[in-house]
Amino acid sequence: VTHPFWPLFDLRICTPRLELRYPADDDIVKLANLAAGGIHDRDNMPFSVPWTRQESPQLERGTLQYYWLRRAEWTPSKWAFPCAVVSEGVVVGAQEILADDFAIRRVVATGSWVGRAYQGGGLGKEMRAAILHLAFAGLGAQRAFSSAFEDNPASLAVSRALGYEENGDELQVREGKVARLIRMKLTRERWSEGQRDDIEIHGLEPCLKLFGVTGRTT
Ligand SMILES: CC(C)(COP(=O)(O)OP(=O)(O)OC[C@H]1O[C@@H](n2cnc3c(N)ncnc32)[C@H](O)[C@@H]1OP(=O)(O)O)[C@@H](O)C(=O)NCCC(=O)NCCS
Repeated sequence: VTHPFWPLFDLRICTPRLELRYPADDDIVKLANLAAGGIHDRDNMPFSVPWTRQESPQLERGTLQYYWLRRAEWTPSKWAFPCAVVSEGVVVGAQEILADDFAIRRVVATGSWVGRAYQGGGLGKEMRAAILHLAFAGLGAQRAFSSAFEDNPASLAVSRALGYEENGDELQVREGKVARLIRMKLTRERWSEGQRDDIEIHGLEPCLKLFGVTGRTT
């Protein structure tokens, strides 16, 4: 497909193991089903907004609205680019990258999840590496941020493995109780030390203005 007005639908990031793509409605349905199938144990809550507590079909409908809202709210000065993560033809998770005033700040944040059946096999790390490649190599970012609650070792391990460093913390209210959120920071310098040469970005050029990028990025 080549979309006449919304080139994000044709943007793809490919690694040897995964493809990340902007989800069209059929992918959004797959993400909704995947989320309804479970992302974490009932005893845990990895998300600041506890959206995974919803019952079916509210959870699936809420998931659709989440992605539709991100499409509708996009501007070059404030955007959130969610990707469906596809492994061997199957949607296995979601990887998002977002920025405010990227043209000026060159700072991005990311968030992600993997369907429970697919966790622990290296996909979380691979999809973060892919979105960081878009941020740094594709868009010319200078810094990337991520954060995770201190009781989320898998997310923190992904960040550490990719070169992030701790960057302070904050105490949030999580489902009525206090929880420590650890902020992680990755500089362009640290990213470039581990830069991969086996990740490809397709279809970025027509999207650059939507991301607030004009002229050379690197
Ligand atoms: C966080 C998440 C995306 C990571 O994806 P994943 O595919 O499970 O992670 P990977 O298999 O790539 O593992 C990456 C690292 O985490 C480590 N890890 C995975 N699960 C772990 C666990 N339960 N405890 C400790 N370390 C763990 C792995 O050993 C690996 O570290 P290494 O590279 O140093 O060996 C996934 O677990 C998830 O979706 N969790 C629930 C939702 C969530 O927490 N989202 C993030 C909110 S901040």
